[in-house]
Amino acid sequence: MSKVLSAVAWPYANGPRHIGHVAGFGVPSDVFSRYMRMAGHDVLMVSGSDEHGTPILIAADEAGLTPQELADRNHRLIVEDLVGLGLSYDLYTRTTTGNHHAVVQEMFQGVYENGYFVEETTFGAISPSTGRTLPDRYIEGTCPICKTPGARGDQCDACGNQLDPHDLIDPVSRINGETPQFIETQHFFLDLPALAEALGEWLDERDASGTWRPNVIKFSMNILKEIRPRAMTRDIDWGIAVPLDGWRDNPTKKLYVWFDAVIGYLSASIEWARRSGNPDAWREWWNDPQALSYYFMGKDNITFHSQIWPAELLAYNGKGAKGGSAHELGELNLPTEVVSSEFLTMEGRKFSSSKKVVIYVADLLSRYQADAFRYFVAAAGPENQDSDFSWGEFVQRTNSELVAGWGNLVSRTATLIAKNFGQVPAPAALTADDEAVLATTLAAFDTVGDLISRNRMRNAINEAMRVVGDVNKYVTDAEPWKIKEDPERLGTVLWVMAQCVQDLNTLLSPFLPFTANQIDTILGGDGNLQPMPRVEEVADLDIEGRAYPVITGDYSSVRTWGRHDVVVGTPIEKPTPVFTKLDPAVVDEELARLGL
Ligand code: MF3
Ligand code: ZN
Repeated sequence: MSKVLSAVAWPYANGPRHIGHVAGFGVPSDVFSRYMRMAGHDVLMVSGSDEHGTPILIAADEAGLTPQELADRNHRLIVEDLVGLGLSYDLYTRTTTGNHHAVVQEMFQGVYENGYFVEETTFGAISPSTGRTLPDRYIEGTCPICKTPGARGDQCDACGNQLDPHDLIDPVSRINGETPQFIETQHFFLDLPALAEALGEWLDERDASGTWRPNVIKFSMNILKEIRPRAMTRDIDWGIAVPLDGWRDNPTKKLYVWFDAVIGYLSASIEWARRSGNPDAWREWWNDPQALSYYFMGKDNITFHSQIWPAELLAYNGKGAKGGSAHELGELNLPTEVVSSEFLTMEGRKFSSSKKVVIYVADLLSRYQADAFRYFVAAAGPENQDSDFSWGEFVQRTNSELVAGWGNLVSRTATLIAKNFGQVPAPAALTADDEAVLATTLAAFDTVGDLISRNRMRNAINEAMRVVGDVNKYVTDAEPWKIKEDPERLGTVLWVMAQCVQDLNTLLSPFLPFTANQIDTILGGDGNLQPMPRVEEVADLDIEGRAYPVITGDYSSVRTWGRHDVVVGTPIEKPTPVFTKLDPAVVDEELARLGL
């Protein structure tokens, strides 16, 4: 039993989330967290809305709102999206809290006092026509490293390197196409070269553990070769103040959004602890070197989690070439594993909110079951390579795998028991086939559990569904509907079926928590096998008069991983279907909605 931090990427509060976002960080982290709790670990699952930075400014400008108004509105929407998907956060908060600002400033102080910030004069971009500063993302040009056109000022999506707008070849403003003017400006740079050796040692050790996905560790090792100081402040008026004299009150210089966002994992853990009544409780996940931490995200976030965030932690801990010592937060743990997904496309296209090639979570959930979507992501999502969401495949998988496969097994089991006995019958002597199928579902706890703990979600759910097939085959062979004259044998087969369904429901519950609770009720349980998250309005802990919604929950009653014996005599009624069969016409309807 370990302390396990589930650190889930923080969605930008620049709009509601589409299914590509939540396929990358949402479903995988929830399956993992739910399983780890069932396996007896002490899981702390945290995240929140990422509210600073250019994406919010752009969206606020477009909407005619202040950045805070825009972020307030979107934070609420995102909270609803994530709860609707059943994502079991211990705390889903936001980056505009007093707590987050204080923790970020403490991290800055620690890094600064340990000497890992260098102040440098650089070139900042301004728009010659308006005189306003141009944030990095507003600038586009050819990547100076891989020479691909269309690289953004902050990052090249082609080679994954972080960039400086000033280094772009032929830079232009995305707003009006003009060539930006570069003027001298002062910034704090994180001295990554002074941390490179420590980062390399950490990555070598992580590599040796053999647990990271090969593409993630390879990418992370690779970007270490190009390491150079990175600016951690920006010419922008929306963000967290730099906590130094001469900077603190400067309205146009703030901390870089990525410097603050990754600290969210720590600040959210601290906020959770403060709200729990034991303000130091977070330390068990952060200061104890035995604690494990898993970070979930899409691949465009890898650099920030396998380089920038560990570098901030090493610098705060005083573990780079310049030495130093940890401050009041103590020595902080580096990530155990960066679990990154690839990208999800839709009907063969890149998601694009502006081109309306997008399916918002809220729309999907208004028409389909959350578990049907969760199933699709687990079984066919972008775990190791880019994958495609198509309505055709969604309908096909829902109907053939959930409705005709798993749902049908549940339904025939409960229906036959209800009709013949009205309660779970007692078994008589077991045949070899009975023993074999029971051994199969029991063994699946080891195989499926091991796969989930290693974040091999596709293999895990395929293995569980293969066992569903085995049990369906057992039923087809045993033909209980034909057993008319032998109630003892009929009772035995139905008892075996009930136990197998119970086992499979436990096995599938991290993936399908909503329907697992329904099936638990069908089997006579309390329907609370997988506790659900809830939205709570809370007062800011540090800012008088401010309140915001968070996601939280009490997941301590989750069922333990393993066989739970069905209880003979439990009343069973004829069930209603758990999974909704989808009309094939859905495909054309949805494609028409997308204008495809
Ligand atoms: N907001 C970023 C995105 O959507 C992710 C931030 S993850 C964090 O790409 F760790 F930095 F918070
Ligand atoms: Zn490039």
